[in-house]
Amino acid sequence: MSGHNVWTHKGTFLLAAVGSAVGLGNLWRFPYLTGENGGGAFILVYALTIFAVGIPILIAETMLGRTSRQSPIMGMRHLTKTHKTSRAWESIGWLGAASAFLILSFYSVIAGWALHYTWLMLTGSLVGADAQTISAGFDALLASPGLMTLYHTLFIAFSALIVAMGIHKGIESGLRIMMPALFVILIVVLIYGIINGDVRAAARFLFTFNIADLSLEGWLHAMGQSFFTLSLGMGAIMAYGAYMSSEASLTRTAIAVAFVDTAVAMVAGLAIFSLVFGAGLETGQGPGLMFVTLPLAFADMPFGALVGGVFFILVLGAAVSSSISLIEPVAAFLVERFDMTRPQAVTIMVIAAWAMGLLTVVSFNVWAEGTIFHALFGRSAFEFIELLTNIFMPLGGLLIALFAGWALTQSEVMKELGTNITWFKTWRILVRFVGPAAVSFVFLRTIPQVEGYVIPTLGAVLIVGAFALGQRLRKSAA
Ligand code: TRP
Repeated sequence: MSGHNVWTHKGTFLLAAVGSAVGLGNLWRFPYLTGENGGGAFILVYALTIFAVGIPILIAETMLGRTSRQSPIMGMRHLTKTHKTSRAWESIGWLGAASAFLILSFYSVIAGWALHYTWLMLTGSLVGADAQTISAGFDALLASPGLMTLYHTLFIAFSALIVAMGIHKGIESGLRIMMPALFVILIVVLIYGIINGDVRAAARFLFTFNIADLSLEGWLHAMGQSFFTLSLGMGAIMAYGAYMSSEASLTRTAIAVAFVDTAVAMVAGLAIFSLVFGAGLETGQGPGLMFVTLPLAFADMPFGALVGGVFFILVLGAAVSSSISLIEPVAAFLVERFDMTRPQAVTIMVIAAWAMGLLTVVSFNVWAEGTIFHALFGRSAFEFIELLTNIFMPLGGLLIALFAGWALTQSEVMKELGTNITWFKTWRILVRFVGPAAVSFVFLRTIPQVEGYVIPTLGAVLIVGAFALGQRLRKSAA
């Protein structure tokens, strides 16, 4: 047991959870999804989901970590024993480990692009470049497996180094330097955007709520994004929760994490769209928003190369602080279960994720079409991996909500949550019913996107199984 292993300070969990939450999801995915899905209406749904589903599940996941005080897999094994529930709930840990591994594999490749752009910006290579040049440059990066592998390797190795140094010397110290720096850079970029861009247009775009702008797809994206951005449903938060001080308030911490994470997404959105509108560019550019549209905006602005470079350093830092939380749950498991040293465990996890990442690398070039993935699932390996994580994350969140809502006893939960009975009851309704309902909705819509019947069938079996188990849990708890 690693019960004695706790963060140095009461507030470190908050720092670590914010580090995990704030990442490419806030700086890259949130702005482009907002751009594609009608601005304010998208944000409204996103904020509602964060509040009604995200925060309660964030509390549930942290709670599972803190009560078990072990890595997600071992922690769930422990909880299923002490609560006399089916061993099947251990799948929360396994599913989390699988998602962490899959997300890390492509997250590192995309973060690697930011490394490329940091370099391009700081060397002034894009100063004065036109749209064609910049978009051709991005295409050239995607067409080069060698270059992408190089950046992917550098990024993942750096993240691994931090985790290998341990939760105190590596993760805590790293975050204590990185996070404040990231907030300062974000503010600098916002101010730059206000001065050089069109912040009014950006604010109008982000905060005008016109619900008619939102399609069903947009709803689903907003809900999926609120999960992704809080790092929910895959053990990262649980692993960090295992080190959380017993004195820190779960509720207040979870609200703070959600608040900071949302604020960062909004500020990043405001800064990015100010620049995009200021340069008279399009908002609905999809994933290329950060790597094509934004460099183009910087290309013609005063000190654009410098501020652009600093902006991509921000992206890199945010990505590193997230990727270390993807390595931690699996590494901690290997240490606990097989008595490995931390550097050994990290090396194994990261080499496997690195190799998996090569599938994402080649999905943009040599394996862009005509592979077994295209034949079976109608998409590239990268898109398939992303789809899998889009299924695993909500599924993990669903199971976490059900387990925390039905299997943990009232006295256990109240010990973790504090003694306010009204809040306890509200939280329990949210994790027992509201969360699972919302997640199932997102989840069921994601699945039919896969051509073929393997995944839908698997998903249906898992959902039915989850609810059957929920019923049994309730009986055994009663
Ligand atoms: N929250 C991260 C972001 O916004 C992405 C992410 C999803 C993540 N799940 C995670 C990060 C788990 C760490 C651990 O970029």
